This record gives sequence, structure tokens and C-alpha cells, in this order.
Amino acid sequence: MIDQLRDRLRQTGFTVDGVFGLLGADAHHALGRNETTPARRATADGSPLATVVRLFQLQLSVPRDDAERALPGLVDALVAAEVLAVSGGEVRALVDVRPYGDEGHDWWVVADLTPGLDQQPVEVGSEHVLGISEASNSLAQLTRRDPVARALDLGTGCGVQALHLSTHADAVVATDVNPRALWAARLTAALNGVDVDVRDGSLYEPVAGERFDLITTNPPFVVSPPSEERLVYRETSFPGDDVVRRVVQGSADHLEPGGWCQVLAAWVHADGQPWEERLSGWVAPTGLDAWVLQREVLDLASYTEMWLADAGARHRPDYVEQYDRWLSWFTEQGVEAMGFGWIQLRRADRAVPSVRVESWPYEVVQPMAPHVTAWGDRTDALADGDVLDRAWRQADGLVQDTYGRAGASDPERIVARLTSGPCRTASLDTVEAGLVGASDGDLTAGQLLEAIAGLLGEDASEVRERYRPSVRTLVEEGFLTP
Ligand SMILES: C[S@@+](CC[C@H](N)C(=O)[O-])C[C@H]1O[C@@H](n2cnc3c(N)ncnc32)[C@H](O)[C@@H]1O
Repeated sequence: MIDQLRDRLRQTGFTVDGVFGLLGADAHHALGRNETTPARRATADGSPLATVVRLFQLQLSVPRDDAERALPGLVDALVAAEVLAVSGGEVRALVDVRPYGDEGHDWWVVADLTPGLDQQPVEVGSEHVLGISEASNSLAQLTRRDPVARALDLGTGCGVQALHLSTHADAVVATDVNPRALWAARLTAALNGVDVDVRDGSLYEPVAGERFDLITTNPPFVVSPPSEERLVYRETSFPGDDVVRRVVQGSADHLEPGGWCQVLAAWVHADGQPWEERLSGWVAPTGLDAWVLQREVLDLASYTEMWLADAGARHRPDYVEQYDRWLSWFTEQGVEAMGFGWIQLRRADRAVPSVRVESWPYEVVQPMAPHVTAWGDRTDALADGDVLDRAWRQADGLVQDTYGRAGASDPERIVARLTSGPCRTASLDTVEAGLVGASDGDLTAGQLLEAIAGLLGEDASEVRERYRPSVRTLVEEGFLTP
């Protein structure tokens, strides 16, 4: 049945481009905002593609005849598989199936029905399986895509990360604790004809004793007061942000040499302890290289409002009571704010691991994956001898802005600016600007500094020593690459 369904969805044109073509840009964007009205108007003709969109994306009942025309010979089997339900002469979907893709693939992802369409109250049960979210997209763009032997998608949910992993890993294992997520992830994999080993269990329990070249995870990191009504897609029974600490620390036993663990994460700022110190403390026992990038810090009121809205609590009679309960609990726990960000871990087996923990709340141009790889390459290069003895290259896409009085012959300020990944800037003096400008992988940084010293009439060895820390910083921040 699943092979027939795949063939039929393809024949109807139920792909990202096909649906976009049917709906048009405005209705497509409205649907992205959970508004179905423009899409209803664009799918009123009863054609097979319109019927499939109405069923699986707009959550509309369609006449059985239309459903039979769109999915010939499949309706009864899909009812038996609990994908569709029939009532009277009408058919409706019990799950959301949506086209999804990357540059080279057209896929479908199966998840629970999207809550809160058309301003309806959000109702989600504890075992709700979240569809593709902003967080899923962000993790997908963060994940390195080099070919690997074994990859793990920890907390697979609808199975979207596993689909991406299947494009560059020989074997993919996906885990979850939610039986409904295991069902959805298996269905997603089967519908796309992709081989994923979906396993039941918490964190690394289902992969005890196994190692991977790549672990990718968007764990349920919402920090909330204990409750009977825990939403498994976002919360665990681990206290506070301990789920993220466990993911980080557990990865050390499951990475092959050279392997990576890439985590979308949140952490508390608590008890007056600098967050950098807390995160460094998580990483230290692992012996892994780490790059922790905090993207955002939310105050507790904004954080509480966001997650109460996510659970549909906003319009409930006890909203104020719940809001107060969250804030009281944060106070009791010593939580002061919540940080969100990305944790990259890499098994480099160094005597002294390289750990970089930083805040970058500014622009990031996705995809980040190449910049994660580049961080690894720079870390290796920096660990390999004197920074002045190596020939560096200017990073791709590095541009320079100069500031000064209009018409002045020399700029007052030179700023180097990266135009992809974290779009960092660095204010450069004349020597640094000369060094970056001349770094084309030919002469070493030391040779370039000596030449610049000669041009400026300064002592070469003094210039070398003075600029050694700047060269290191320019490499650490990605302006120069090996
Ligand atoms: C935020 S969702 C991420 C889903 C999907 N990977 C994505 O990128 O969209 C977190 C997933 O972790 C699962 N989960 C919850 N507790 C877990 C645990 N202790 N061990 C493994 N997975 C867990 C949830 O069921 C949910 O599917």
C-alpha cells in the first residue's frame, strides 16, 4: 500500500513545487501562518491534487468520490492504517502529510494534524507529534552533510532529520520515546522509500554500546514546572535543562573518532553563575572539542508566554494562574533567564580540547553547516604549531568596508565583514588589513607581517610578536582559514 501511495502522491503532483503552483504565493504564505482560507479558495475544483491538499494540509473533509479519484484503491487501506477516517459520505485525514524537500529531493513528512488552524484554540495531547518546525529547519541547515557511515537522529519525532541524514549516511538510526512519534517516523521513512532503523527509548538507551559519525538532535528542551500534562515533544521528566546536559555528556560515549554531535539547545541562566561557565562545565568532562553559540536570551515572562501559547493555554480560564505558577517555580529554582543556541561537539581526541563558548545574537546567514566544518578545520590548524608559521587564506565572502571623510586619501577605519554564517565584523588596523588582504595561502602569516613591517619601517620581530594574538583571533573568528 505504501508504495502505491508514494506513486500516487507523485502522480498527483503533491510536491513542494506542485502545491506552490496550485496555491500561489499568497495562499502558500497564508498557510504558513496557519490560515487556510486562501488555500481553500485555490483548491475548490475537486482535482486529485486539490483533494490531496485539502485532506492532508487543510484538514478538510472531502466527498468520498473525490478521495477515491485522488487516491484510487487506497482509501480503505489508509483508513485501516489510521491515516484517513470515513464518516457518512466524507473522508478526512487523521494526520498531516506534507511535501518537503531539499535541493535534490522531494519528500513527504507525516506528523499529527497542525493545531490552531484558522485561529481555532490550540489543542495538543501529551503524545502530539510535531510537524516540521522552525527549529527542525534550523537544525537541518546546521547539520554537516559530508558522507558518513552511521548517523543518529535522537528524538526523531516526525522523522524529518532522518530523511536528511539518509542522503549522506550509509545507515541511519532514529530514536524516540513517544510511540506515536515512532509510528510517524516509520511512516515518513516508508513513504519516502528510505531505510531508517527507528528505535524506542530515552536518549542514548536504544544505542547502548554503539558509535556514530554524526549525531543530530533537537531534544525536548523546554524548561517548565513539573506537571501531569507534560507535552513529550517539548518536555521531559529530567529537571530543568538536564536533558540537554545529558545529550551533550552522553555523546562522548557514542561518537566515532572524528565524529560530530550537533545539538539545538536551551539552557538556564541560574543562580548568578555566568552561563558560559555553566556550559563549559557541561562540556569539560566529555573531552570533546566544543563550539557553543548562544543565539538568544529570553526573559522569563516572554519565555513563559511563548510556551503557554504553544500549549494552547492562552485562552484557558486558568491562564493567569499557570503563568504565575511558572514564574514562582523559576524563582524557586534560581532561574534568571533562558538561553537558546547551538552546540557543536567533535571527537578530536586532543590532550587539551578546544572549547569556544560565545554569544552571537546578531545576523546568521544559513546554512550554517559549512561554517561548522570550517570551525573544525580552523581548530585543527590552530592546534598544529605556531599560528605565524602557517599560510592562511582570506575567508570566502569576506568584504571590507572603509570609513572616513569623503575624498580623504586614507580611511580612518577599516572593517572586515563576513557575509555568510555568523556575519562577524572585525575592526582592522593597517597591519591587520594588509595581512588579511595578502593572505592567499602562499606566504605564512609571519612572512607577511615581516614584509608589512618593512614597508612601514618597523622592526620585523617586534611586529611579529605584537600581531601574533591578532592573527590567532582572526583565525578563531573565521576571517582567516587554513
Ligand atoms: C522538539 S522534537 C524534535 C523532532 C524532530 N527531530 C525535529 O527536528 O523536528 C523532540 C523529540 O524528542 C522526543 N523525546 C522526548 N523525550 C525524549 C527522550 N527522553 N529521549 C529521546 N527522545 C525524546 C519527542 O517525542 C520529540 O519527538
